[in-house]
Amino acid sequence: MPESIMTRSVREILTSPSIGSDVRVQGWVRTKRESKAGLTFLEVSDGSYFQNVQVVVPADLPNYATEIPKLHTGSSVMVLGKEVQSQGGKQAVEVQAREVSLIGACDPAIYPIGKQKMTHEYLRDFTHLRPRTNTFSAIARVRNVLSMAIHDFFQQRGFIWLHTPIITGNDAEGAGQMFRVTTLDLDKPPRKEDGQVDFTQDFFASGVNLTVSGQLEAEAYACSMGKVYTFGPTFRAENSHTSRHLAEFWMVEPEMAFADLEENAQVAEDFLRHLLGAVLEKCPLEMEFFKQRVEPAIIDTLRAVLDNPFKRLTYTEAVDILKKSGETFKYAVEWGIDLQSEHERYLTEKVFKSPVILTDYPKGIKAFYMKLNPDGKTVRAMDVLVPGIGEIIGGAQREDREEVLLARIKEMGMHEGPLQWYLDLRRFGSVPHAGFGLGFERLVQFVTGMGNIRDVIPFPRTPGHIRI
Ligand code: 4AD
Ligand code: MG
Repeated sequence: MPESIMTRSVREILTSPSIGSDVRVQGWVRTKRESKAGLTFLEVSDGSYFQNVQVVVPADLPNYATEIPKLHTGSSVMVLGKEVQSQGGKQAVEVQAREVSLIGACDPAIYPIGKQKMTHEYLRDFTHLRPRTNTFSAIARVRNVLSMAIHDFFQQRGFIWLHTPIITGNDAEGAGQMFRVTTLDLDKPPRKEDGQVDFTQDFFASGVNLTVSGQLEAEAYACSMGKVYTFGPTFRAENSHTSRHLAEFWMVEPEMAFADLEENAQVAEDFLRHLLGAVLEKCPLEMEFFKQRVEPAIIDTLRAVLDNPFKRLTYTEAVDILKKSGETFKYAVEWGIDLQSEHERYLTEKVFKSPVILTDYPKGIKAFYMKLNPDGKTVRAMDVLVPGIGEIIGGAQREDREEVLLARIKEMGMHEGPLQWYLDLRRFGSVPHAGFGLGFERLVQFVTGMGNIRDVIPFPRTPGHIRI
């Protein structure tokens, strides 16, 4: 194997062809086609680009009769050849092979990712192989572009990327949907006199969980360094069997000192626009594919979001609109209820036809840390709702008054002991501050039009299901 020949990715070959140059291509066969003229055409994918590169295999290769018949969809190959102008109209460049080596065979009789039309449900049984399909490799590239766009947005604005812990003693949302982390022997855990499990004998000498949000820790850094954001995995043991809930998902959480709810909402709006713009710019082939195969209106929807300001209104105004709508909802609407996704989607899809930022929710349905309004009934919460999804972002201005926060903690029946450090942030140089959390997989759903959240994360975890 002559070492001087450069390996180029399919993306490099197709987006910056070097006609006449020798090249090495490594990837997996997508399709094989024999022409009447005695040539074989291979479509080879390496995942780097939406399109495959066409490899033309002439019949006079020494191993043509022995090796080429063994190539099937899914086989891995290495090709040495030359980049040439394509004869067919489909692409500008193709690779004229002078050596084709089968690296790993793939038996078509048992390969689960054949050419037949496969449903998303079917592919969920093959999370290890589904990235070989157009849909799932496109999603992986979109996730990558979105991840970098998240960092770009915050880095350009002076935010510090903060790494908050995954194992934590805090129940940030106060909703009790946490996964316990323990090394105790579950068959015979040590018990206290009252029969309760004695977590003082556990690894951390206390009960700890997987984090539901990095927000509280992010507040400590925002209240020291101004503007920070986290981007990491988040865990919720909620028994929700919906197309929008995962037990493990990724969340982006900016937190800003000296910011109020209006500023928070503006950052959220600018942020979403930045992300949509990045995908439309950097993933045009993927977006065209999602438009053709997943959701015909997807590009128009994203463009409309880019071009129009988000609608802002209070929870109370939204409840009025829903009550007067004449629509029959599965869950009846009353002031004080937690809005369901049917209500959220009605507002964003039917009433406003744009993203909606709802603010000032009843305190009873929101977390303890949100700033209490002068009415004593509502808090400075905000949810961003988008068409097709409903809630994509949840956030708030935080309660920055120690005595009000303490009263809220007690009112909600929580223990103040473990939150002393959090109260300290209000005791020592407290500042108004605000932040939000964007569910990364809901964002990917929104951008791609994919109907089920299990299909936009590589290896989904949902109640009763964990495969790999
Ligand atoms: O509204 P949530 O629960 O807010 C928080 O966790 C705050 N601590 C955020 C903050 O202010 N820093 O969650 C934020 C977002 C939701 O809007 C939703 O997009 C997503 O996280 N999310 C989920 N995504 C997938 N599966 C789940 N089970 C999710 N739960 C929330
Ligand atoms: Mg929420």
